[in-house]
Amino acid sequence: MSIKRIGVLTGGGDCPGLNPAIRAIVRKADRENIAVVGIKNGWKGLIEEDALELSLRAVSGILPKGGTILGTSRTNPYKERGSLEKLKKTFSALNLEALIVIGGEDTLGVASKLSKEGLKVVGVPKTIDNDLSCTDFTFGFDTAVNIATEAIDRLHTTAESHHRIMVVEIMGRYAGWIATYAGIAGGADIILIPEIPFSVDEVCDLIKKRHTGGKDFSIIVVAEGAKLKEHDLVLQNKEKDAFGHVLLGGIGQFLSKELERKTGYETRVTVLGHVQRGGTPSAFDRVLATRFGVKAVELVIAGKFGKMVSLKGNDIVDVPLEDAVGTLKTVDMKLYDIAKIFFG
Ligand code: F6P
Repeated sequence: MSIKRIGVLTGGGDCPGLNPAIRAIVRKADRENIAVVGIKNGWKGLIEEDALELSLRAVSGILPKGGTILGTSRTNPYKERGSLEKLKKTFSALNLEALIVIGGEDTLGVASKLSKEGLKVVGVPKTIDNDLSCTDFTFGFDTAVNIATEAIDRLHTTAESHHRIMVVEIMGRYAGWIATYAGIAGGADIILIPEIPFSVDEVCDLIKKRHTGGKDFSIIVVAEGAKLKEHDLVLQNKEKDAFGHVLLGGIGQFLSKELERKTGYETRVTVLGHVQRGGTPSAFDRVLATRFGVKAVELVIAGKFGKMVSLKGNDIVDVPLEDAVGTLKTVDMKLYDIAKIFFG
């Protein structure tokens, strides 16, 4: 029996590329005579039966737009009692035959569990953090890297004029992908990532060496999840979200103060924050999201549920959802070794 009606939702932190993915799903589904229902605000919309029909008209003009026309949330249906039952009821009430879930580790983690309970789901990986396993890249990452790179370029000129140390704090949660890519692309003098705990003294030594060598300014890229050796993570807020995550951020400020105190060089900090997540997607992200969206519909038609679309080399393939959400994909040390050649 061929599928005639599917749902789509976007969950977790938004990122550039969500709208191109939604558009691709609706356009491809239309070609196959499949109706698409947009679920509002991630799993929350499925729990609360908040949905709308996605016509071709509804997705017209959204390709270059950041964010998600469906809205998003970090709602975890496994957290609140009764939510799962409501979610499944909505699935039937909306006459959905399958659901395409666009999300990161948390949202796809829920999709994977639901799939094991029999729900027909297909996953699409998105996140600026690029920390999902089983795919070379997630969409959103390239745009975030471009934004962070441009920021580093801009900080370079002002750092040089004022002979200052510039610390730039970059998102990425527990993985240093954005920091590493943007740091390499922007020519950072050191890149501090969660994968490798650091000491302030090591950073000071490197900066002093630069000064001795005649370079009286430095660009220090620090990932928000970077850890000091023998020190707890620096946090904005200890409260945990529905998926058990704390709000990272603050390491840049801490490091900046310490560097100024210990080296005596004037230091400033820039926290890039959500600027990295907003705005128009890069061409790379638009293309990747489009390819992912089309492939997701193809998987639905082929009855390949419990899978996630993935980029492997130049190909879009499918992988088991549970493999993708099992472990976090951290920075490839071969890449970090290349970055290290340019430190100091
Ligand atoms: O996962 C994407 C991300 O932007 C992380 O890099 C960051 O730690 C987190 O989301 C911020 O979350 P929020 O949008 O809740 O502030």
